Amino acid sequence: MKITTTSKSITALDPSFVRIAIRTAPYTRLQEKDGVYTLHISHETKEPFTLRTARTLFRSIIRTAKSMKIERLAWNSTEIAALSTSDTDTRGVLLQLLAENILIADYEFTHYKTGKIKHPLTESLITDCDAKDVAFVERGAHIATHVNIARDLANTPGGDMTPETLASRAKALAKGSAVAVTVLGKKEIQKLQMGALLGVSQGSTEEPRFIIMEYWGAGKPSIQKGHTRTAVNEKSPVVLVGKGVTFDTGGLNLKPSDAVLDMHLDMSGGGAVIAAIVCAAKLKVKKNIVALIPAAENMVSGESYRPGDVLTTMSGKTVEVLNTDAEGRLILADALTYAKRYTPKLVIDVATLTGAALVALGQHASAIMTKDTALQTDLTRLGEESGDYVWPLPLWNEYKQHTKGTFADIANIPSSGSRYGGAINGGMFLAHFTEDYRWAHIDMAPRMTPAPGDHLAKGATGEPVRLLLKIIETF
Ligand code: BES
Ligand code: ZN
Ligand code: ZN
Repeated sequence: MKITTTSKSITALDPSFVRIAIRTAPYTRLQEKDGVYTLHISHETKEPFTLRTARTLFRSIIRTAKSMKIERLAWNSTEIAALSTSDTDTRGVLLQLLAENILIADYEFTHYKTGKIKHPLTESLITDCDAKDVAFVERGAHIATHVNIARDLANTPGGDMTPETLASRAKALAKGSAVAVTVLGKKEIQKLQMGALLGVSQGSTEEPRFIIMEYWGAGKPSIQKGHTRTAVNEKSPVVLVGKGVTFDTGGLNLKPSDAVLDMHLDMSGGGAVIAAIVCAAKLKVKKNIVALIPAAENMVSGESYRPGDVLTTMSGKTVEVLNTDAEGRLILADALTYAKRYTPKLVIDVATLTGAALVALGQHASAIMTKDTALQTDLTRLGEESGDYVWPLPLWNEYKQHTKGTFADIANIPSSGSRYGGAINGGMFLAHFTEDYRWAHIDMAPRMTPAPGDHLAKGATGEPVRLLLKIIETF
């Protein structure tokens, strides 16, 4: 579907457009008068109208329109803006949010469907727009397009989305933007001594990749690489690290059948950081950004890494693999060590890391973990503003004991075998590799797929692309 704008009023449109009327109608209905159709949306007014309620309302309207096989919709921007009951949620904010959610709700992963697509919704026209309104609508559409790009990457089946294809898709997406992409293959990964990334990938016939994407929107820092450590300055980049496990069988600690079904989505974090850096570069933001994606397939074979194996990470720290299914933290460890060479002002890693994050939070928020309380507050607020909701879990020293190894420096799961605090254990493991910079971890496993009531298509959500863009623009 395309989103279009006009300065015309809704009454001036031709009858091919179905007008949206958000009213307190007792029920949603399509009404015809003099050949003009209006879709009356019943909308509860008992609850205050917030950005949260707006998101689900706009999405539900799109889903309703699709189910009614409506082809063209018209939205009155002034009526939309008037829904707001707060001073801060301005007309522009609401129009951006409208455009975003129209496109996010319309998305379906149809790449592998043959034959005609059954849903004919082709256009959403937003009326009564001035030039400023148009800019907000375009921004919303741009962001949503990149959320949907992240969904396409994640939704592509594991057989077609290998580390190699993820790398070439990253290159293709960066084309025409100022993002430079470098892809390291197995030999170069060996040279860097990324023993954890190599260990995870060794059971697969698909070789690992390490994808490096750089965007210098604020100008290249003078000492960008190399081993001379400079202090963080205004040109230091924000580094985004995304878990790129293109398929997670669990390895020799094989997942049960049901649990393995969605595991082609285990590169959702990687997909999100790829989409976010490209999105920001195309917006020409004056910031420096780096995205790092360690990509591997966690497979079962005669060459798989074993429970009990000890891996030497790029940092030099040794890790005892007590569970081959806790592979995300291993590949992230090497990427987080690599991040040091940028002298980053901030590092954010995004990963579908633990089922335990779902146990802790349910499906409505990703877990964030950081030892920096100011950062925790900022990220929670940006999550709320962006629609990619996040909620904190602690990384207190009391939890550190659970990362101790028996035969190596650290273990990838608690040696006690305890499952308590599993999401925190993942964060505490990563904390061993992030001591040199400001860092937060986003365990997005809860938001890998939509929750009931999200009004989103089955498959990947494309989170947290909207939040990452906010982070880029804020720090
Ligand atoms: N990719 C999974 C986590 C996951 C599970 C994400 C379900 C989304 C939905 C991760 O690699 C994993 O398997 N984690 C283990 C960790 C455990 C072995 C400590 C888990 O959650 O069971
Ligand atoms: Zn796993
Ligand atoms: Zn995984």
